[in-house]
Amino acid sequence: MKLAKAFAIATILAAGTAQAEAERTDPNAIAREELMELVGKNTGILGDMAKGKTAFDAAQAETAKAALVEAAGKIEATFAEPGATDPVSEAKPEIWTNWEDFLVKAKTLGEAAGAMDVASAESIGAGMGKLGGACKDCHTTYRVMKE
Ligand code: HEC
Repeated sequence: MKLAKAFAIATILAAGTAQAEAERTDPNAIAREELMELVGKNTGILGDMAKGKTAFDAAQAETAKAALVEAAGKIEATFAEPGATDPVSEAKPEIWTNWEDFLVKAKTLGEAAGAMDVASAESIGAGMGKLGGACKDCHTTYRVMKE
């Protein structure tokens, strides 16, 4: 327990944000977080292969790509209900006032993931810019970036 706590504190310090460690309570905000964590995880898998941080694995790359396409397709349903104002949520209210634009950005993510050639670490690397651009484009407008 003590160690776990020390680790958690170290993580908070490293991330420079105590907010990220707080628990969400609104089910909508929890669902959004889970979906985005999945997006982050699979983007990380592809990014690590592209950078040579992990060995290229064709099956794993295909799975990650498919998971990203699927997750992008779930953004609309998962974000549809703003739910209660959750102080831990990083979702900006503009999502729901600019819903159509938000969906365009979700679609762009799905297209970038779908277009990614996962045949080799090099081809993944070639597609990472577009994928990362889709994340950044949406986060810049619709996510509260806590530093
Ligand atoms: C259509 C908009 C959109 C796109 C595209 C998008 N995100 Fe997000 N992302 C969000 C929003 C909004 C939040 C904040 C959700 C909340 O806190 O309720 C978020 C939160 C996150 C989080 C934080 C999850 C947490 O633990 O709180 C991660 C990680 C993340 N996104 C990764 C990515 C990555 C990687 C990509 C691109 C491959 C991506 N996102 C693409 C809108 C998007």
